[in-house]
Amino acid sequence: MAVPLFDTVSPVAPLRAQIDAAIARVLDGGAYILGPEVEAFERELASYLGVRQVVSVANGTDALTIALQALGVGPGDEVVVPAFTFYASAEAIPPTGATPVFCDVDPDTMCVTAETVRAALTPRTRAVIAVDLFGNPALIDAIAALGVPVVEDAAQAAGAKLGKRAAGSLGTLATFSFFPSKNLGCFGDGGAIATDDDALAEAARVLRFHGSRDKVTYERIGWNSRLDELQAAILRVLLPQLDAWSDGRRTAAAHYAAAGLGELVALPVATPGATPAWHLFVVRHERAAELEHALNAAGVGARGYYRTPLHRQEALAPWVPAGLELPVTDELARTHLAIPMSPLLDRASADEVVAAVRTTLAS
Ligand SMILES: Cc1ncc(COP(=O)(O)O)c(C=O)c1O
Repeated sequence: MAVPLFDTVSPVAPLRAQIDAAIARVLDGGAYILGPEVEAFERELASYLGVRQVVSVANGTDALTIALQALGVGPGDEVVVPAFTFYASAEAIPPTGATPVFCDVDPDTMCVTAETVRAALTPRTRAVIAVDLFGNPALIDAIAALGVPVVEDAAQAAGAKLGKRAAGSLGTLATFSFFPSKNLGCFGDGGAIATDDDALAEAARVLRFHGSRDKVTYERIGWNSRLDELQAAILRVLLPQLDAWSDGRRTAAAHYAAAGLGELVALPVATPGATPAWHLFVVRHERAAELEHALNAAGVGARGYYRTPLHRQEALAPWVPAGLELPVTDELARTHLAIPMSPLLDRASADEVVAAVRTTLAS
Protein backbone atom coordinates (compact mmCIF):
# COMPACT_ATOMS: atom_id res chain seq x y z
CA MET A 1 0.00 0.00 0.00
CA ALA A 2 1.52 3.30 -1.09
CA VAL A 3 -0.25 5.27 1.67
CA PRO A 4 -1.79 3.07 4.40
CA LEU A 5 -4.98 4.04 6.20
CA PHE A 6 -3.08 4.20 9.49
CA ASP A 7 0.40 3.37 10.71
CA THR A 8 0.90 1.55 14.02
CA VAL A 9 4.61 0.90 13.45
CA SER A 10 6.55 4.04 12.41
CA PRO A 11 5.48 6.36 15.28
CA VAL A 12 6.63 3.88 17.96
CA ALA A 13 9.82 2.75 16.18
CA PRO A 14 12.05 5.45 17.77
CA LEU A 15 10.78 4.38 21.22
CA ARG A 16 11.84 0.76 20.86
CA ALA A 17 14.65 0.86 23.45
CA GLN A 18 12.37 2.50 26.06
CA ILE A 19 9.61 -0.02 25.33
CA ASP A 20 12.02 -2.94 25.62
CA ALA A 21 13.21 -1.56 28.96
CA ALA A 22 9.63 -1.18 30.20
CA ILE A 23 8.81 -4.77 29.25
CA ALA A 24 12.00 -6.01 30.95
CA ARG A 25 11.08 -4.07 34.11
CA VAL A 26 7.74 -5.90 34.29
CA LEU A 27 9.30 -9.32 33.67
CA ASP A 28 11.96 -8.66 36.31
CA GLY A 29 9.33 -7.50 38.80
CA GLY A 30 7.15 -10.58 38.33
CA ALA A 31 3.81 -8.73 38.91
CA TYR A 32 1.48 -8.93 35.92
CA ILE A 33 -1.99 -7.83 37.03
CA LEU A 34 -2.91 -4.69 39.03
CA GLY A 35 0.61 -3.86 40.10
CA PRO A 36 2.84 -0.77 40.21
CA GLU A 37 2.81 -0.06 36.45
CA VAL A 38 -0.99 0.08 36.35
CA GLU A 39 -1.05 2.36 39.41
CA ALA A 40 1.58 4.66 37.91
CA PHE A 41 -0.11 4.78 34.50
CA GLU A 42 -3.48 5.60 36.08
CA ARG A 43 -1.84 8.49 38.00
CA GLU A 44 0.00 9.73 34.91
CA LEU A 45 -3.07 9.62 32.65
CA ALA A 46 -5.16 11.39 35.32
CA SER A 47 -2.53 14.11 35.53
CA TYR A 48 -2.40 14.44 31.71
CA LEU A 49 -6.19 14.74 31.53
CA GLY A 50 -6.48 17.03 34.55
CA VAL A 51 -8.90 14.70 36.38
CA ARG A 52 -8.76 13.21 39.88
CA GLN A 53 -9.14 9.55 38.98
CA VAL A 54 -8.36 7.06 36.24
CA VAL A 55 -9.42 3.41 36.52
CA SER A 56 -7.88 1.22 33.85
CA VAL A 57 -9.78 -1.74 32.42
CA ALA A 58 -9.39 -4.40 29.73
CA ASN A 59 -10.76 -2.45 26.75
CA GLY A 60 -12.85 0.54 25.74
CA THR A 61 -16.08 -1.47 25.50
CA ASP A 62 -15.82 -2.69 29.10
CA ALA A 63 -14.93 0.88 30.11
CA LEU A 64 -18.34 2.05 28.83
CA THR A 65 -20.32 -0.77 30.50
CA ILE A 66 -18.51 -0.27 33.80
CA ALA A 67 -18.85 3.52 33.65
CA LEU A 68 -22.62 3.16 33.13
CA GLN A 69 -22.93 0.67 36.00
CA ALA A 70 -20.85 2.92 38.25
CA LEU A 71 -23.44 5.61 37.55
CA GLY A 72 -26.15 3.21 38.68
CA VAL A 73 -27.56 2.50 35.21
CA GLY A 74 -29.51 -0.76 35.21
CA PRO A 75 -32.68 -2.54 34.09
CA GLY A 76 -35.55 -0.19 33.27
CA ASP A 77 -33.24 2.70 32.41
CA GLU A 78 -32.57 4.21 29.00
CA VAL A 79 -29.20 5.38 27.71
CA VAL A 80 -29.08 7.72 24.72
CA VAL A 81 -26.33 6.96 22.21
CA PRO A 82 -25.63 8.27 18.70
CA ALA A 83 -26.34 5.89 15.80
CA PHE A 84 -23.31 7.16 13.90
CA THR A 85 -20.38 5.71 15.85
CA PHE A 86 -18.55 2.42 16.35
CA TYR A 87 -20.83 -0.47 17.32
CA ALA A 88 -19.26 -0.81 20.79
CA SER A 89 -20.67 2.56 21.91
CA ALA A 90 -24.13 0.94 21.90
CA GLU A 91 -23.12 -2.68 22.47
CA ALA A 92 -21.86 -1.65 25.91
CA ILE A 93 -25.37 -0.69 27.08
CA PRO A 94 -27.44 -3.96 27.13
CA PRO A 95 -25.02 -5.73 29.51
CA THR A 96 -26.11 -3.19 32.15
CA GLY A 97 -29.74 -4.21 31.63
CA ALA A 98 -30.59 -0.77 30.23
CA THR A 99 -32.07 0.05 26.83
CA PRO A 100 -30.06 1.89 24.17
CA VAL A 101 -31.99 4.78 22.60
CA PHE A 102 -30.49 5.97 19.33
CA CYS A 103 -30.15 9.63 18.43
CA ASP A 104 -28.93 11.55 15.41
CA VAL A 105 -25.75 13.63 15.04
CA ASP A 106 -24.74 17.04 13.73
CA PRO A 107 -24.16 17.03 9.96
CA ASP A 108 -20.96 19.11 10.21
CA THR A 109 -19.07 17.82 13.25
CA MET A 110 -20.66 14.33 12.97
CA CYS A 111 -20.97 14.36 16.81
CA VAL A 112 -24.03 14.27 19.07
CA THR A 113 -25.30 17.64 20.23
CA ALA A 114 -27.75 18.83 22.90
CA GLU A 115 -30.38 19.16 20.14
CA THR A 116 -29.99 15.63 18.81
CA VAL A 117 -29.91 14.18 22.34
CA ARG A 118 -32.97 16.19 23.45
CA ALA A 119 -35.09 14.48 20.79
CA ALA A 120 -34.31 11.09 22.37
CA LEU A 121 -34.83 11.98 26.06
CA THR A 122 -37.64 10.39 28.07
CA PRO A 123 -38.34 10.31 31.81
CA ARG A 124 -36.44 6.98 31.85
CA THR A 125 -33.21 8.41 30.42
CA ARG A 126 -30.50 7.71 32.98
CA ALA A 127 -27.36 8.63 30.97
CA VAL A 128 -26.10 9.83 27.61
CA ILE A 129 -23.09 8.39 25.82
CA ALA A 130 -21.53 11.30 23.91
CA VAL A 131 -18.89 10.13 21.45
CA ASP A 132 -15.94 12.38 20.52
CA LEU A 133 -16.16 10.99 17.01
CA PHE A 134 -13.03 10.61 14.92
CA GLY A 135 -11.06 12.60 17.52
CA ASN A 136 -13.36 15.64 17.41
CA PRO A 137 -14.80 16.44 20.87
CA ALA A 138 -18.58 16.64 21.29
CA LEU A 139 -20.04 19.72 23.01
CA ILE A 140 -20.53 17.84 26.26
CA ASP A 141 -21.36 20.81 28.53
CA ALA A 142 -24.48 21.60 26.50
CA ILE A 143 -25.54 17.95 26.65
CA ALA A 144 -24.90 17.80 30.42
CA ALA A 145 -27.04 20.95 30.78
CA LEU A 146 -30.02 18.79 29.77
CA GLY A 147 -29.74 17.38 33.30
CA VAL A 148 -28.58 13.83 32.53
CA PRO A 149 -25.14 12.41 33.39
CA VAL A 150 -22.87 12.18 30.35
CA VAL A 151 -20.42 9.36 29.70
CA GLU A 152 -17.91 10.82 27.26
CA ASP A 153 -16.79 8.07 24.87
CA ALA A 154 -13.31 9.42 24.19
CA ALA A 155 -12.05 6.15 22.65
CA GLN A 156 -11.06 8.01 19.50
CA ALA A 157 -10.10 11.33 21.05
CA ALA A 158 -6.99 10.93 23.23
CA GLY A 159 -4.94 14.07 22.66
CA ALA A 160 -7.87 16.29 21.63
CA LYS A 161 -8.96 19.40 23.52
CA LEU A 162 -12.06 21.52 23.90
CA GLY A 163 -10.85 24.96 24.87
CA LYS A 164 -8.12 24.18 27.38
CA ARG A 165 -9.82 20.99 28.66
CA ALA A 166 -8.68 17.57 27.53
CA ALA A 167 -11.05 15.24 25.74
CA GLY A 168 -11.69 12.61 28.38
CA SER A 169 -12.24 15.20 31.11
CA LEU A 170 -15.51 16.59 29.79
CA GLY A 171 -18.18 14.14 30.98
CA THR A 172 -19.31 12.91 34.41
CA LEU A 173 -17.13 9.97 33.42
CA ALA A 174 -15.12 9.42 30.26
CA THR A 175 -13.87 6.25 28.64
CA PHE A 176 -10.83 5.41 26.54
CA SER A 177 -9.72 2.54 24.34
CA PHE A 178 -6.05 1.73 23.92
CA PHE A 179 -6.67 -0.55 20.92
CA PRO A 180 -3.45 -0.50 18.86
CA SER A 181 -4.70 1.81 16.10
CA LYS A 182 -6.05 4.41 18.56
CA ASN A 183 -4.29 7.75 19.14
CA LEU A 184 -2.85 6.27 22.33
CA GLY A 185 -2.70 2.59 21.44
CA CYS A 186 -1.00 -0.21 23.33
CA PHE A 187 0.18 -3.54 21.93
CA GLY A 188 -3.03 -5.41 22.64
CA ASP A 189 -6.35 -4.45 24.22
CA GLY A 190 -6.70 -1.86 26.95
CA GLY A 191 -9.07 0.79 28.21
CA ALA A 192 -9.70 3.29 30.99
CA ILE A 193 -12.35 5.30 32.79
CA ALA A 194 -11.59 8.88 33.87
CA THR A 195 -13.59 10.93 36.34
CA ASP A 196 -13.37 13.71 38.89
CA ASP A 197 -15.80 11.88 41.14
CA ASP A 198 -14.03 9.70 43.74
CA ALA A 199 -17.16 7.68 44.53
CA LEU A 200 -17.74 6.82 40.85
CA ALA A 201 -14.08 5.83 40.49
CA GLU A 202 -14.36 3.60 43.54
CA ALA A 203 -17.48 1.93 42.09
CA ALA A 204 -15.60 1.35 38.81
CA ARG A 205 -12.63 -0.16 40.68
CA VAL A 206 -14.91 -2.62 42.43
CA LEU A 207 -16.76 -3.47 39.21
CA ARG A 208 -13.56 -4.17 37.24
CA PHE A 209 -12.49 -6.70 39.89
CA HIS A 210 -15.40 -9.16 40.24
CA GLY A 211 -17.38 -6.70 42.33
CA SER A 212 -14.88 -7.07 45.17
CA ARG A 213 -12.48 -4.86 47.11
CA ASP A 214 -10.50 -7.67 48.70
CA LYS A 215 -11.17 -10.92 46.76
CA VAL A 216 -12.75 -12.27 49.96
CA THR A 217 -16.17 -10.60 50.00
CA TYR A 218 -18.13 -9.84 46.83
CA GLU A 219 -20.57 -6.90 46.99
CA ARG A 220 -21.98 -7.17 43.48
CA ILE A 221 -21.76 -9.02 40.18
CA GLY A 222 -18.87 -7.34 38.44
CA TRP A 223 -16.41 -8.09 35.68
CA ASN A 224 -12.91 -9.40 35.26
CA SER A 225 -11.66 -6.40 33.30
CA ARG A 226 -8.12 -5.21 33.94
CA LEU A 227 -5.34 -3.56 32.02
CA ASP A 228 -2.28 -5.75 32.47
CA GLU A 229 1.09 -4.57 33.76
CA LEU A 230 2.86 -5.06 30.42
CA GLN A 231 0.39 -2.85 28.56
CA ALA A 232 0.47 -0.26 31.36
CA ALA A 233 4.27 -0.14 31.28
CA ILE A 234 4.20 0.34 27.49
CA LEU A 235 1.49 3.01 27.74
CA ARG A 236 3.71 4.92 30.21
CA VAL A 237 6.31 5.18 27.44
CA LEU A 238 3.73 6.25 24.85
CA LEU A 239 1.70 8.78 26.87
CA PRO A 240 4.45 11.46 26.87
CA GLN A 241 4.38 11.30 23.04
CA LEU A 242 0.64 11.89 22.75
CA ASP A 243 0.74 15.67 22.34
CA ALA A 244 3.44 15.53 19.65
CA TRP A 245 1.54 12.76 17.85
CA SER A 246 -1.67 14.80 18.02
CA ASP A 247 0.19 17.81 16.59
CA GLY A 248 1.37 15.48 13.81
CA ARG A 249 -2.21 14.48 13.04
CA ARG A 250 -3.25 18.13 12.83
CA THR A 251 -0.26 18.87 10.60
CA ALA A 252 -1.35 16.00 8.34
CA ALA A 253 -4.84 17.55 8.16
CA ALA A 254 -3.22 20.85 7.18
CA HIS A 255 -1.26 19.05 4.44
CA TYR A 256 -4.51 17.72 3.01
CA ALA A 257 -6.05 21.20 3.03
CA ALA A 258 -2.93 22.74 1.43
CA ALA A 259 -2.92 20.01 -1.22
CA GLY A 260 -6.42 21.11 -2.29
CA LEU A 261 -8.47 18.22 -0.88
CA GLY A 262 -11.22 20.63 0.15
CA GLU A 263 -11.90 21.44 -3.51
CA LEU A 264 -12.73 17.79 -4.16
CA VAL A 265 -14.55 16.50 -1.07
CA ALA A 266 -16.05 17.94 2.13
CA LEU A 267 -13.32 18.12 4.78
CA PRO A 268 -14.05 17.21 8.43
CA VAL A 269 -15.31 20.15 10.49
CA ALA A 270 -13.86 20.79 13.96
CA THR A 271 -16.30 21.38 16.80
CA PRO A 272 -16.33 25.12 17.68
CA GLY A 273 -13.57 25.77 20.24
CA ALA A 274 -12.00 22.34 19.73
CA THR A 275 -8.50 21.21 18.90
CA PRO A 276 -9.28 17.81 17.39
CA ALA A 277 -6.79 14.95 17.40
CA TRP A 278 -7.94 13.41 14.12
CA HIS A 279 -7.97 9.70 14.95
CA LEU A 280 -9.54 9.10 11.57
CA PHE A 281 -9.61 11.72 8.82
CA VAL A 282 -13.13 11.38 7.51
CA VAL A 283 -14.18 13.27 4.41
CA ARG A 284 -17.61 13.27 2.76
CA HIS A 285 -18.67 12.84 -0.85
CA GLU A 286 -21.71 11.61 -2.76
CA ARG A 287 -19.51 9.03 -4.46
CA ALA A 288 -17.86 7.78 -1.24
CA ALA A 289 -18.37 4.05 -1.92
CA GLU A 290 -16.89 4.36 -5.40
CA LEU A 291 -13.98 6.45 -4.05
CA GLU A 292 -13.32 3.81 -1.38
CA HIS A 293 -12.97 1.12 -4.01
CA ALA A 294 -10.85 3.21 -6.40
CA LEU A 295 -8.47 4.51 -3.71
CA ASN A 296 -7.80 1.03 -2.38
CA ALA A 297 -7.19 -0.19 -5.93
CA ALA A 298 -4.69 2.68 -6.32
CA GLY A 299 -2.84 1.68 -3.12
CA VAL A 300 -4.35 4.41 -0.96
CA GLY A 301 -6.06 3.19 2.23
CA ALA A 302 -9.71 4.22 2.43
CA ARG A 303 -12.63 2.86 4.43
CA GLY A 304 -16.26 3.69 5.14
CA TYR A 305 -16.27 2.67 8.80
CA TYR A 306 -19.96 3.03 9.57
CA ARG A 307 -21.74 2.29 6.25
CA THR A 308 -24.48 0.48 8.22
CA PRO A 309 -25.33 2.79 11.11
CA LEU A 310 -26.22 1.35 14.49
CA HIS A 311 -30.00 1.68 14.21
CA ARG A 312 -29.79 -0.56 11.13
CA GLN A 313 -27.52 -3.24 12.66
CA GLU A 314 -29.19 -6.62 13.06
CA ALA A 315 -28.01 -7.24 16.63
CA LEU A 316 -29.41 -3.92 17.83
CA ALA A 317 -32.81 -4.34 16.15
CA PRO A 318 -34.57 -5.30 19.42
CA TRP A 319 -33.91 -1.76 20.67
CA VAL A 320 -34.88 0.15 17.54
CA PRO A 321 -38.48 1.41 17.50
CA ALA A 322 -40.38 0.82 14.25
CA GLY A 323 -40.07 3.76 11.89
CA LEU A 324 -37.10 5.41 13.67
CA GLU A 325 -35.68 7.98 11.25
CA LEU A 326 -32.20 9.42 11.79
CA PRO A 327 -31.68 11.28 8.50
CA VAL A 328 -28.29 12.85 9.22
CA THR A 329 -26.88 9.52 10.37
CA ASP A 330 -28.17 7.79 7.23
CA GLU A 331 -26.69 10.50 5.01
CA LEU A 332 -23.29 10.38 6.75
CA ALA A 333 -23.28 6.57 6.66
CA ARG A 334 -23.58 6.79 2.88
CA THR A 335 -21.20 9.66 2.22
CA HIS A 336 -18.36 9.36 4.77
CA LEU A 337 -14.94 7.98 3.95
CA ALA A 338 -11.81 7.69 6.11
CA ILE A 339 -8.60 8.37 4.22
CA PRO A 340 -5.02 7.90 5.47
CA MET A 341 -4.11 9.59 8.76
CA SER A 342 -1.13 9.18 11.08
CA PRO A 343 1.11 11.42 13.21
CA LEU A 344 3.77 11.12 10.50
CA LEU A 345 1.71 11.59 7.32
CA ASP A 346 3.76 14.07 5.26
CA ARG A 347 2.99 16.46 2.43
CA ALA A 348 4.17 13.99 -0.26
CA SER A 349 1.74 11.35 1.02
CA ALA A 350 -1.07 13.91 1.23
CA ASP A 351 -0.33 14.93 -2.38
CA GLU A 352 -0.51 11.29 -3.45
CA VAL A 353 -3.86 10.77 -1.72
CA VAL A 354 -5.29 13.98 -3.16
CA ALA A 355 -4.08 13.07 -6.65
CA ALA A 356 -5.80 9.68 -6.38
CA VAL A 357 -9.03 11.35 -5.23
CA ARG A 358 -8.82 13.86 -8.10
CA THR A 359 -8.23 11.13 -10.70
CA THR A 360 -11.18 9.08 -9.44
CA LEU A 361 -13.62 11.97 -9.31
CA ALA A 362 -12.57 13.16 -12.79
CA SER A 363 -13.61 9.83 -14.30
C1 LIG B 1 -16.06 5.24 19.67
C2 LIG B 1 -15.58 3.94 20.23
N1 LIG B 1 -16.13 3.48 21.37
C3 LIG B 1 -15.72 2.33 21.93
C4 LIG B 1 -14.72 1.58 21.36
C5 LIG B 1 -14.37 0.26 21.99
O1 LIG B 1 -13.04 0.13 22.34
P1 LIG B 1 -12.35 -1.32 22.43
O2 LIG B 1 -12.12 -1.80 21.04
O3 LIG B 1 -11.08 -1.05 23.17
O4 LIG B 1 -13.27 -2.21 23.20
C6 LIG B 1 -14.10 2.03 20.19
C7 LIG B 1 -12.96 1.35 19.53
O5 LIG B 1 -12.80 0.25 19.26
C8 LIG B 1 -14.56 3.23 19.59
O6 LIG B 1 -14.04 3.68 18.45
